Amino acid sequence: MRKKLVSVALVAAMAASMTACGGGSSAPAEAPATEAAKEEAPAETPAPAAEEEKEEEPAAADAASGDLITVGYAQVGAESDWRTANTESFKSTFTEENGYKLIFDDAQQKQENQIKAIRSFIQQEVDYIVVAPVVETGWETVLEEAKEAGIPVILSDRQMQLSDDSLYEAWVGGNFVLEGETCGDWLAEYLEAQGRGEEEINIVTIQGTIGASAQVGRTQGMANKMEEHPNWKMLDMQSGEFTQAKGQEVMESFLKSYDDIDVVICENDNEAFGAIDAIKAAGKTCGPEGDIIVVSFDSVKAAFESMIAGDLNATFECNPLHGPRVAEIIQKLEAGETVDKVQYVDEAYFDTSMDLESILAERAY
Ligand code: AHR
Repeated sequence: MRKKLVSVALVAAMAASMTACGGGSSAPAEAPATEAAKEEAPAETPAPAAEEEKEEEPAAADAASGDLITVGYAQVGAESDWRTANTESFKSTFTEENGYKLIFDDAQQKQENQIKAIRSFIQQEVDYIVVAPVVETGWETVLEEAKEAGIPVILSDRQMQLSDDSLYEAWVGGNFVLEGETCGDWLAEYLEAQGRGEEEINIVTIQGTIGASAQVGRTQGMANKMEEHPNWKMLDMQSGEFTQAKGQEVMESFLKSYDDIDVVICENDNEAFGAIDAIKAAGKTCGPEGDIIVVSFDSVKAAFESMIAGDLNATFECNPLHGPRVAEIIQKLEAGETVDKVQYVDEAYFDTSMDLESILAERAY
């Protein structure tokens, strides 16, 4: 195990770069990537079969020598712009310069890959395991293995459904139900302003990966708001797996099945980019001046460009910059302090009534 702690000055700098957590309405934190991060060669976790070879590598030897805090990050994949920003946030935070050795694993959106990665981290005797779980269920066994090995687990981004809360130290991420409800409230106000408040509104939803917190919460949040608007009809819901390609495919199928779609809710921005392509290819229009209202979640830079182009109506923020937030949790644990078990990050929303050019110019992801 490591013996050196990150300096107090570094911790203070990290804390200063973080947003306040707690589910309010203030602007989200934006942590710019550092130059050091760009130079860092990511430490990829090998397949379990290659474990023994990996332990012979100098990087693993450094970690074992005790100089750095070793963190294994079991990432979901690289399915979206949001995910890319999240990965970058971890790689730019958990650098050797900052006192860490990061072992990064991309699970390619497969839970079995994440479970293998966690077991690999346990074998490598990392100091902390961080997981952004693909789905909410099916984690008890592997987390018990981590607990038995005495390795603290921190959850980030999506949540897990666990019968035993002692299997993890803390979770930090977005409030997905609130994001869905904010979307529903925005739609109600938008339709009202258009004089369509009482009109029958046909909605389709391109969901995220089924069983992922971001999907479960956003679908639930929108369902809560559907109950307040009996004139809204959900025609169909299908998973676009949080990818642009699948979002396009699902929207193509919706457009073949329904000729009267008023609104498409995309559970992330990348799905919306695919849906917009499908709408245009079908000879229809979208956005504030178009036939179909398109809304999505994440608020990545490309979503601002899409709103500026007049294609996307609104995007509901999900902040991906969790690297410094997880680092703060680790530093508190290192100092023997208690940490809040559940830490929600403040999030906003953006639509075409705003000065999007100015916001985009300051946007970190
Ligand atoms: O869990 C967060 C979600 O995962 C983001 O909305 C999406 O883009 C990503 O794939």
